[in-house]
Amino acid sequence: MPPIELECIVKFGGSSITKKDEFETINADAWSFAIEIIRKVEGKCIIVHGAGSFGHFQAKEFGVSDGFDTESSCEDKAYVRKGFAVTKLSVTKLNHRLVSALVEAGISAVSVSPCSGWRTEDKSKVTSSDLETITGLLENGFLPVLHGDCVLDKTRGCTILSGDTVIEVLASHFKPKRVVFLTDVDGIYTLPPSHEDATLIPEIYFREDGEIMTAVTTDTKSHDVTGGLKIKLQTAWNILNESKGTIPVFVCNICSKAAEYSCCHGYLYEENGTALLLYRNQDHT
Ligand code: ATP
Ligand code: IPE
Repeated sequence: MPPIELECIVKFGGSSITKKDEFETINADAWSFAIEIIRKVEGKCIIVHGAGSFGHFQAKEFGVSDGFDTESSCEDKAYVRKGFAVTKLSVTKLNHRLVSALVEAGISAVSVSPCSGWRTEDKSKVTSSDLETITGLLENGFLPVLHGDCVLDKTRGCTILSGDTVIEVLASHFKPKRVVFLTDVDGIYTLPPSHEDATLIPEIYFREDGEIMTAVTTDTKSHDVTGGLKIKLQTAWNILNESKGTIPVFVCNICSKAAEYSCCHGYLYEENGTALLLYRNQDHT
């Protein structure tokens, strides 16, 4: 397959495009910013969005992430199956609304749900992914819009595949110039941002052995079934490690200049946001 020059992969975090604590409620203010940014990206990109208040509540209530096994009773399996169906329906509702808004803004966005072509093993190991469809869409000038989804899992019947894991697989295959996570806070802080002593960290370096060089303390919303910021740091490390530091990762507020600059140009605006980078001794001697 010929390589495709991909400017960026952008994650619209569930915390930024929805009101994460209000059931199935979108954050309309953030949408106009996000769509405007995508219009300004010169070149090809892929959007992956989270579920936020569309999907996480249902996934948690029905235990979809843990799936079931051969020992599970028929009732338990039926319960999880129902959860899978309602979670999928909810996140697809969000996807439909987002893709509609993108199309209305003149962007040829096309929805690609991982449930159809992606499979996992033991929750987070992706064993197959439909990259051919995404490649075809990119080659023909479309903008693929994927999302965290309910998928079939070899060991657990089914599970929740996080949008962050989808991004890892896409980054490894398409090697974009950068990966940008758009969230509801200005970047990564030393402490959860609600904490009065929290300070924004403009750059976070990982050592080549995976050790993070700046201390970051996180918390997770109780209904977030895919792990919150801690998993995002792990995702960032996986991307940096896999690409040997050639794909920088940014975390920015969806409603910021930093979001626009990182998506369009690959650097932050006035240090508002966080760049995650690989620390190599030779670069610093
Ligand atoms: P997901 O990662 O599940 O796809 P998302 O992309 O919307 O979702 P979250 O994982 O919810 O993003 O991460 C953003 C949230 O992390 C913020 O709302 C913030 O309150 C919380 N958070 C906790 N600790 C920190 C920290 N040290 N720095 C920045 N945000 C933090
Ligand atoms: C979660 O995906 C998918 C479902 C619950 C169906 P993400 O992990 O990418 O979602 P956010 O960003 O945390 O909302």
